[in-house]
Amino acid sequence: MRRAKVVGTGMYVPERVVTNHDLEKLMETTDEWIQKRSGIKERRFAADWETPADMAKVAALRALADAGLAISDIDCIVLATLSPQHEFPGTSFFLHELLDAPEIPCFDLRAQCTGFLYSLATANSFVRSGQFDRVLVMGVEIHSMGIELTTRGRDVAVLFGDGAAGVILEASEGGAEDPGVIEVRLHAEGKHARKLWIEAPGCALKPTRVTAEMIADGRIYPKMDGKFVFKNAVTRMPEVLHETLSAASKKLEDVDLFLFHQANLRINEYVANALGIPAEKCLNNIERYGNCSAASIPLLLAEARESGLAKPGSLVAMAAFGSGFSWGCGLLRL
Ligand code: COA
Repeated sequence: MRRAKVVGTGMYVPERVVTNHDLEKLMETTDEWIQKRSGIKERRFAADWETPADMAKVAALRALADAGLAISDIDCIVLATLSPQHEFPGTSFFLHELLDAPEIPCFDLRAQCTGFLYSLATANSFVRSGQFDRVLVMGVEIHSMGIELTTRGRDVAVLFGDGAAGVILEASEGGAEDPGVIEVRLHAEGKHARKLWIEAPGCALKPTRVTAEMIADGRIYPKMDGKFVFKNAVTRMPEVLHETLSAASKKLEDVDLFLFHQANLRINEYVANALGIPAEKCLNNIERYGNCSAASIPLLLAEARESGLAKPGSLVAMAAFGSGFSWGCGLLRL
């Protein structure tokens, strides 16, 4: 059976560390509030010169080096982001330029914090169908430029950070227990799109997409109904995890590592407790990086492989919930 297996992972986070104490200087907040509510201690912010494509390039080159491949070996680039480099074209095209890629297709995928899993599912289908042999799947975010670093925006601003990470999927022949993506289940509920969103600029805002008044009112910054998001996340993540495991005829106990989206440590602790997952099987890096949306899960995966926690043969379950609402779960054997 044709499968898509992970042959390389790579990550990059900017050098600049922004602690909760640094945020205390910009808005009315406290290290204690942030840690208690979210588990976050610090996050990274991109340098002035750094673009999303610059960050994705470093992560992609590391993934290629890890796989022992060159960009000329890649057949397609799928890049998930909610903080694009420009309105259009997608960030993937600027990454394509920086990687000096041959004339392979690339595109951006917009599924917010579930973006990496949507991209993984897409790449998996490309490989399994035989359309491509190797796909580079990236998640990258520069949130620091899109959040309101003032008291008005504090409920959202303290949660997010910048980062980039990705994986390379390669075609292989094997059975159900061999390395490869086993199952990816995806869901959405668009009726809650406005519960976590950035409204402007947008083509729904006629006639000019954005006005000076909208900017002054902060409608260009993310708005979130935090409690509603929390409640949905802790329901949907276990639901989709069960659905995915059951589709793969696996049990929770079979999973070696759980990589949950890094929105809030409390969400992940709640989910792990509810499912009876031992803490050591549940990796988190939110305390160091905050929520890096589409980059969060591949950051975890890259760190887990680098540290040796994820080994060849490990069964890894990844689950995410985010704006859209969107949610999903991916199961893979390394
Ligand atoms: N620092 C200090 N106080 C803050 C604050 C901050 N950064 N942000 C909000 N507050 C205040 C609020 O104004 C509120 O004050 P009030 O009681 O005087 O009105 C108080 O803290 C409590 O706010 P509340 O919204 O009830 O907090 P909460 O316990 O719901 O926690 C979140 C807020 C955002 C941490 C939590 O709702 C959450 O994690 N939601 C999910 C977020 C998420 O997953 N987002 C991304 C999905 S991809």
